[in-house]
Amino acid sequence: MKNFALIGAAGYISPRHMKAIKETNNKLLAALDPFDSVGVIDSYFPEMDFFTESERFDRYLSKQRLNDNCMDYVTICSPNYLHDAHIRLALRNGADAICEKPLVLNPWNIDALEDIQKETGGKINNILQLRLHPSIIALKKKVEEGPSDKIYDVDLSYLTSRGKWYHISWKGNHHKSGGIATNIGIHFYDMLSWIFGSVNENIIHILEEDRAAGFLQLERARVRWFLSVNYDLIPEHIKAIGQRTYRSIIIEGENMEFSGGFNDLHTRSYEEILLGNGFGLHEAKPSIEIVHEIRNASPVGLKGEYHPLCKS
Ligand SMILES: NC(=O)c1ccc[n+]([C@@H]2O[C@H](COP(=O)([O-])OP(=O)(O)OC[C@H]3O[C@@H](n4cnc5c(N)ncnc54)[C@H](O)[C@@H]3O)[C@@H](O)[C@H]2O)c1
Repeated sequence: MKNFALIGAAGYISPRHMKAIKETNNKLLAALDPFDSVGVIDSYFPEMDFFTESERFDRYLSKQRLNDNCMDYVTICSPNYLHDAHIRLALRNGADAICEKPLVLNPWNIDALEDIQKETGGKINNILQLRLHPSIIALKKKVEEGPSDKIYDVDLSYLTSRGKWYHISWKGNHHKSGGIATNIGIHFYDMLSWIFGSVNENIIHILEEDRAAGFLQLERARVRWFLSVNYDLIPEHIKAIGQRTYRSIIIEGENMEFSGGFNDLHTRSYEEILLGNGFGLHEAKPSIEIVHEIRNASPVGLKGEYHPLCKS
């Protein structure tokens, strides 16, 4: 049984981590969140300690270490721009880190984290749960087993819906979330570069608050991508069945719809991390480089090979 602590307990994603810790038969001993609406804790680990101040949480971790009850893992579910600071807090207290996506906002933050890994001997694990999605694993296998000189034509659409709150919260603040491509798109750039190889060209057609679109030339694919958080862009047939998210990858004209199969991927991620197979800095870096480039690019408008939804 491993000891866990968690940062960002009151947020949207934290219950999935609490569930994963419980389902993998481990103990969540303590959590930190400046916001104290954390009644959800009672559904998972009612006995645990809870802190609203980082200094007290740090003191607790340090005492646990002195008492030979060191945290094995600190899970990080805080806003994106705080991840690297919270990872340092975890590793300096003798724990490994399990951090939500995006691991950090900029490629150089990863270099700094490499130093802290070396200094402490701890490991940083990143939640990249799409790599554990059965359909994505099957696609990677298909590409690996196909002709090695084949360049695939891929159209990726990820249309989801967020209310007005999104743009008011830290998620709508570029400095804190990295913007739509970083916050919403990171899973897809990770998946694409994992399957189709490194980036040769990264062109941005649209970069707005509620949508982004571009073209990626990867080693093995030409990808037109489109992301949105605007409900108005959800296809009518998806709205008609009451859904607010639509994910699709069209590869060589064949539609691979993968709106389902996401529910248990956090628990699957924990199973792999506990076996020592977590995704580390090396795996996280390519997609962090892609989103950093997108965030700092000047959109070229509707020129060249753009996604069909760009006209919507
Ligand atoms: N893997 C996925 O599919 C997935 C899905 C959603 C969110 N996420 C990621 O999970 C993280 C959290 O997202 P969320 O949707 O739960 O956001 P959220 O805003 O709902 O939760 C963030 C929590 O962090 C807390 N917080 C803020 N500052 C803090 C600090 N200094 N110390 C400790 N806690 C602090 C907030 O009070 C809040 O409770 C983000 O990095 C996000 O990108 C991942």
